[in-house]
Order: sequence, then C-alpha cells, then structure tokens
Amino acid sequence: MPTYDFIVIGSGIAGLSYTVKVAQHFADRNIPIKIALITKTIAEETNTKYAQGGIAAVWDTDDSFEKHIEDTMVAGDFISDRTVVEMVVREAPERLRELIAYGTDFDRKSDGSFDLVKEGGHSDKRILHYKDSTGNEIERALLAKVKSFESVDFFTHYFAVDLITQHHLGEKVTKDTPGKQCYGVYVLNKKTKQVETFLGKTTLLATGGIGQVYQSTTNPTIATGDGIAMAYRAKGFVQGMEFIQFHPTALYNPGKKPSFLISEAVRGHGGILKNQDGSTFMEKYDARLSLAPRDIVARAIDSEMKIHGVDHVYLDTRHIPKEEILQHFPMIYAHCLKELGLDMSKDMIPVVPAQHYLCGGIIVDHFGQTNIENLYAAGECSHTGLHGANRLASNSLLEAIVYAHNAFEKSVSQYGTQVLPVGIPDWDDAGTRNPEELVLVTEMAKELESIMSNYVGIVRTDRRLKRAYDRLELIYLEHEELYKQSRITVPLCELRNMINVAYLIIKHARAQRQNKGLHYNIDLR
Ligand code: FAD
Ligand code: SIN
Repeated sequence: MPTYDFIVIGSGIAGLSYTVKVAQHFADRNIPIKIALITKTIAEETNTKYAQGGIAAVWDTDDSFEKHIEDTMVAGDFISDRTVVEMVVREAPERLRELIAYGTDFDRKSDGSFDLVKEGGHSDKRILHYKDSTGNEIERALLAKVKSFESVDFFTHYFAVDLITQHHLGEKVTKDTPGKQCYGVYVLNKKTKQVETFLGKTTLLATGGIGQVYQSTTNPTIATGDGIAMAYRAKGFVQGMEFIQFHPTALYNPGKKPSFLISEAVRGHGGILKNQDGSTFMEKYDARLSLAPRDIVARAIDSEMKIHGVDHVYLDTRHIPKEEILQHFPMIYAHCLKELGLDMSKDMIPVVPAQHYLCGGIIVDHFGQTNIENLYAAGECSHTGLHGANRLASNSLLEAIVYAHNAFEKSVSQYGTQVLPVGIPDWDDAGTRNPEELVLVTEMAKELESIMSNYVGIVRTDRRLKRAYDRLELIYLEHEELYKQSRITVPLCELRNMINVAYLIIKHARAQRQNKGLHYNIDLR
C-alpha cells in the first residue's frame, strides 16, 4: 500500500494551488515528502479550465475592500459569514500576486495596469481576466508549476471512490463520533479496473461542483459531486446545498450538454437582455438591470420565458464595436459563429439560465479543515460561508486560492504529528460481479437529472420538492441493490454520488423555510 504525506484529490485551481504550496514549502527546506495528486480524467479537465469572466480582487485606488465586502454580503442575501468575507477579500491581492508569480497572465492596459472589468453585483471594476479564457490560463500556469516538483506523483484517470476512516477498521462511526479521522482514500485505477488503497496522513478534497445532477449545466462531465458525497458518507458535515446557482446566460443550443457559457463580462461590457420581440425587461425586476446579481437575473429570465411561453431570451451585443468584441471575447465570438453560425456583432445571442455553481458543500473552518481530522476541503466542493445564499460573480476562483493557502498553512503545521493505524484493509469486492446492465445506470442518471431540473430548479414549491424526494428514493433503492452486486465502475460510482448529492439538495431545500438568494419557493412567499 503506498503511503503519502499528502493526498490531493482534484486538479482544478484548489487542488493545484494547494499542491504547489505544499511541494514548494518542503522543497525549500530540503525535506523529502510524497504528494499524490489524483484526478479522474486528464489533468486539465476541470471546471476551472472553463472559467471565463475572471477573478475578483481590489486593485484600483477608487475601489476598496469595504466595497467588495459589501457587494459579497449583498449578493449572498446577508447570510454570508462576514468574518470569512472580510478574510477572503483582504487576502485576495496577495493570493493573486502568487498566481501571477506562478506564471498566470492577466490582460493589461497600454499603461501596464490590469484591465479590470465589472460583472453583476459588483459596484466597481475589479475582475482580473485573461480575455474570456481566464480559467484555462490559470490551469495552464498551475499545471506547469506542479509538474516541476519531484515530490508530486500525478495519477490521472484515477477515480477516488471512498475516504478511509475508522469505519474501515471495523469501528462504528456516526456523525457524533468524536475524533473521526481520515487515513486516505480508495481509488479506482480506470486502466486496470482495480481499486487501490492510497494511505495518506493528510487528504485534501478539491473535487469541484455538481452540475451533472441537472439536465442543463455549464459544468463539464467531471462535475458529479464526488467529494461531497464521499465526505458525507464518511460522516462529514455538509451545508447550504439548497443554494444552487443558475447562470442567467448560457447559450441556448438544445441537446448540447454541457451548455456553453456567455460570460457575465459580456453584460459588464454593455450586453443587454431582451425578449424575443427585442424589448428590454430587466427594468421590471431590478434597478441594476442586466447587471443585477445572478439569482435575480436568472429568476427574471425564467419569469419572462413563462410569461411569453418561450424557451429562451436574447442577449443583445450588436451595439458593441466588433473590434471590442473580438479583443475581449474571442472565444465566445468564435464559439457562437462555429456552433450556430451567429455573429454576435450583428445577431442577438439566444440565452437561457443553466445550472452553474454550488454555493454549499462540505463545511470547513477558516483553514479548510472539515469535522474529520486530517481531512481538508477547498474550492467548489467546500462550504466556507463566503457565498451565503448566492455567490458574487468571480468570487469562486478567489475563494479556492484563499482556502488552498489557508489549508496549506494548517496542514503543513501538522506535518509529522499524524500516525496511520495498522491493519487498514484493501478494498473488498468479494461476492460482486461485473455489471451486466449498464443501461440501468444511464437510465437512472437521466431520471435523476430530469427530477432535479423539473422539481428542484430556479423556482420551487413544497409539492415539487416532495415529489422529487419520493422519486429519488426509488432510484436510490434500485441503485443500492445494483451497487451491492456489482464490481464498481466509474458510471456506477458517479451515479451513487449524484444520488447522494441530489438527496442533500432536496433535503436542505425542504428544510429551508425562508426565501433567500438562490432558494426561491413559491409557497414561502
Ligand atoms: P474543479 O476545477 O472543478 O476541479 C475538480 C477536480 O476534481 C477535477 O480535476 C476532477 O477531475 C477532480 N475530481 C472530481 N471528482 C473526482 C474523483 N472522484 N476522483 C478523482 N478526481 C476527481 N468562477 C469564477 O470565480 N470566475 C469565473 O469566471 C468563472 N467562470 C466559470 C465558467 C464556467 C463555464 C464554469 C463551469 C465555472 C465558472 N466559475 C467561475 C466557477 C469556477 O470555475 C469553479 O467554481 C472553480 O474552478 C472550481 O475549482 P475547483 O478546484 O474547486 O474544482
Ligand atoms: C462568467 O464569466 O460569467 C462566470 C463568472 C463566474 O461564474 O463567477
């Protein structure tokens, strides 16, 4: 059984920036350590890679920490944890300087200052970006940096299945068991189809979002909520799952999954939301018009689509000079042209809201520590308290680097104190056989997406949530039976995780008795 000092699950911004920091820290001190960096497909395939708009931080002298803090609190409908908001906003410039030192490029103006832009809910221009492909640029730079360290063993196409805790030593572990510990993770090697045991003194979950639980999402196929489900099964605490963010402007292109995002920065540059007859509508909903926070804009679009009986609205960018569009949004321009033959300098863009981000997740403290010892979480899979009931645009990449840093500091300070117990067993699949009915898995996944999209979307009701709960239970029971009989596969495990995540979303949504931010239940009005 390989034993690692640090196991990192996920190669997005959270996992990579944590890995760089840990590896650098020990390299500087000439201390030999071993880090396992595990990712379920190729290294680059992450939500991070698709981030467009950018990363928020206060740079301009006209801007201030206080304004960024207030914007975050307002967007979060005032249930964000103010101490967390203050910490993240104040740390932002330092963490961004590190990203730049690792080789990330951000667009600058001719005088050398950053080309800061504005997005929904921000009272000032404070988004750093690299054209409209910021995430790809960050991912590129971080991956190159990680690969320069000898201490890092990179495991691509390895799927983390379950965290190892005292439960695997035969002890009864419940939510209330004190001193729960994480000893590593069971991982399915996708090439050999064998489950391998990775023992780890410290484990970081950086597994990203949950978009695949919905029919229409901007998230790539890796986003199946695996880390949240693993932590939950290991009796980790999870919170805020009812706060599912729907991005107002995904490209309307039926049948395409994931949905292509039309960045909020396009509205920041003057793009205007319009009905199919060309009339504007945001003035009916919010004084900030197309740049109101996302929950408000997505609900407004949903309401207009219902009023007019249509399945999309439009984003009008025809008044923005073509050179400006090409300079700031080359990727979006090229995509619209290639996929729909649409020239955004001449044609309006058809858009529709799509699931985009999860504000809730595994509860962590200021250092990314979960309620399970030696288990940390950072990035979209975690719940830090920053986003409250609705995330402010471009605060997600920021949260990930701040918490990766804090988790690095804490976990490195604990280095050498953890002792792994003897007798941790290997994965036991006795009595299982190769799955014969894969069609059941694909059909169950389709049913699950349909339940979540129809009953647990932008607008909810008590009856819809109950129906979702009842239908999900049937899928859960059917899947459990199949899971117990089968040698595990990635689709089977991902479905198991998505069922866990969907259950948590519905459960938290039913328990939420107030309309706050992204949770909007007609029966609570
Ligand atoms: P990810 O980047 O999603 O990485 C997750 C990693 O975990 C992947 O490597 C994956 O393979 C791995 N993984 C998952 N499960 C397993 C498993 N079982 N075993 C092994 N590996 C596993 N935010 C902003 O702040 N600004 C933006 O401009 C912005 N634009 C966005 C645009 C799009 C289209 C999308 C989808 C999101 C955007 N976001 C943006 C949100 C932001 O990109 C994500 O929240 C952030 O990148 C998440 O980073 P992460 O490191 O937590 O996870
Ligand atoms: C976007 O570019 O609109 C996405 C920004 C974000 O999700 O923060």
